[in-house]
Amino acid sequence: MNPDELKRQAAETALQHLPDGGIVGVGTGSTVNHFIDAFAQVKGRFDGAVSSSEASTERMKQLGIQVLDLNATGGLEVYVDGADEANRALHLIKGGGGALTREKIIAAASRKFVCIADESKVVDVLGTFPLPVEVIPMARSYVARELVALGGTPVLRENFVSDNGNLILDVHNLEIMEPMKMETQINQLAGVVTVGIFAHRPADLLILGTAAGPKVVEP
Ligand code: A5P
Repeated sequence: MNPDELKRQAAETALQHLPDGGIVGVGTGSTVNHFIDAFAQVKGRFDGAVSSSEASTERMKQLGIQVLDLNATGGLEVYVDGADEANRALHLIKGGGGALTREKIIAAASRKFVCIADESKVVDVLGTFPLPVEVIPMARSYVARELVALGGTPVLRENFVSDNGNLILDVHNLEIMEPMKMETQINQLAGVVTVGIFAHRPADLLILGTAAGPKVVEP
């Protein structure tokens, strides 16, 4: 089965894990695009969505889904988003699409985080996927040197500016044995806006698209 079909399978299964109504937090990426398409079919049951990126906002608006400001909605019941890697504790690496900061904010503001992915995203140890770190532009070189000191090889994401006007360093060669510790360490560097490790606020549920059908994993 091709990976896109597995992503679609996971995304469509997520509909079964939504509340009966209210406002849904919506992430970013190719898996979430399938979720947005499926959510559009049932949008009448809900009051709208909070979006984690300009790209998701655009797609939802085109499909007639009302997009609301998190400042106006208060806390959310559920947030649905993809991941670049997930371990068995449901710690994640996110930010391959560069939307990690808004994703982390919505995840924090949501009672339940439903992660959707194809089965290739599951790993024993996080870090094979280069870890995205969003940085304030003037801090780029300083943060890069600090990331080298932590054992990583940061690479500036070319021709990319985040929705917040910042840069992304993709950090290669990290073996993230202690995700919570590394999330804290990198977050503390001056100039870092967000690190793409989601361990202090992991997913609550992981829905995997697999060749044998959807699989729901809890930590
Ligand atoms: C966006 O910034 C990311 O966090 C995505 O959630 C992640 O990259 C997964 O993307 P795909 O669904 O496209 O694999």
